[in-house]
Amino acid sequence: PKVTYVAHDGTEAQVDVPAGENVMRGALYNGVEGIVGECGGGLSCATCHCYVDESWIDRVGGPSSVTESELLESVATELKATSRLSCQIEVTDALDGLVIHTPETQY
Ligand code: FES
Repeated sequence: PKVTYVAHDGTEAQVDVPAGENVMRGALYNGVEGIVGECGGGLSCATCHCYVDESWIDRVGGPSSVTESELLESVATELKATSRLSCQIEVTDALDGLVIHTPETQY
């Protein structure tokens, strides 16, 4: 599935992310900036914060666990209704074309 990452400055990067991979690793493995993922997807850092595009949030859904909700409280940029931790979004064929916005900073 293809995932498009839109940076804070509007720069877009479209990459192929294998189904079963998560949105955080999809960025890291393809050199997409804007997502740090310090804890490697261990749900303990919140430096993989992203904003799911409005047109995708219904399909992606909200936080997948209480821990994710709690960690979202500590993100560096504004918390929005579309905020997610990208390591907790699994890429599936149904999400082909997904658009993710990365925040200005993760710290
Ligand atoms: Fe650390 Fe997602 S990579 S919480």
